Amino acid sequence: MGKDQAGVSRRSFLWRALAVPAAALAAWWGGQGLSGVLAQTATRTPTRTALATRTPQLRVTPTATPTLLPTPTCGDDDDEPTIAQTEGPYYTPNSPERTSFIEEDTVGTRMILAGFVLTTRCQPVAEALIDVWHADDDGVYDNEGYKLRGHFFTDEEGRWTLETIVPGLYPGRTRHFHVKVQAPNEAILTSQLYFPDEPQNARDGIFDEALLMEVEDAEDAEDETKYGFFNFVLDI
Ligand SMILES: [Fe+2]
Repeated sequence: MGKDQAGVSRRSFLWRALAVPAAALAAWWGGQGLSGVLAQTATRTPTRTALATRTPQLRVTPTATPTLLPTPTCGDDDDEPTIAQTEGPYYTPNSPERTSFIEEDTVGTRMILAGFVLTTRCQPVAEALIDVWHADDDGVYDNEGYKLRGHFFTDEEGRWTLETIVPGLYPGRTRHFHVKVQAPNEAILTSQLYFPDEPQNARDGIFDEALLMEVEDAEDAEDETKYGFFNFVLDI
């Protein structure tokens, strides 16, 4: 009990280090600042009207590797590993390496995912492989190609980031990302990430609140970008 409470407490503390999306991320993208990154892509980011009429999104330059996110402060206790979940029926191996899934024809609400990969002793895991796949804005997976699929690696501080869109809903499931996370030469963790305050969470038998991201809106009310944070803890 005590260990669990400590783990939860420490995880909450870690989140506070991450839970300042716009401000923290502003200093994150290599000193360029998030606003600068967004400014670069602002004219190419779809408007609400464009999305509503299904106008294809123009190409968005992949975001740079984050460099200034603070290393999480750790306690002396072990943390609980991120729980595994079913892979589901739509995993495709050999996805392309990339940190942005946005392509010319991508529609949806832009979302930036970020966090750390850590050991149970809260040590950052460098060069961890993260493979992500998810449904499109209509809740459909690309099972022919690699749209909204890809893999990337944590940096030397265990940080990861991905630019994509908010996954659409499909029957029987709440909103989710699929993930595989693997430290070098270690076992693969297969799991899923969820959105807080999603009504379908309560009706999804696979959903687990331990896999909830911390989701924030952009500070600029006219910017519809969502930010999702999650620290993976590998059982190593
Ligand atoms: Fe799925």
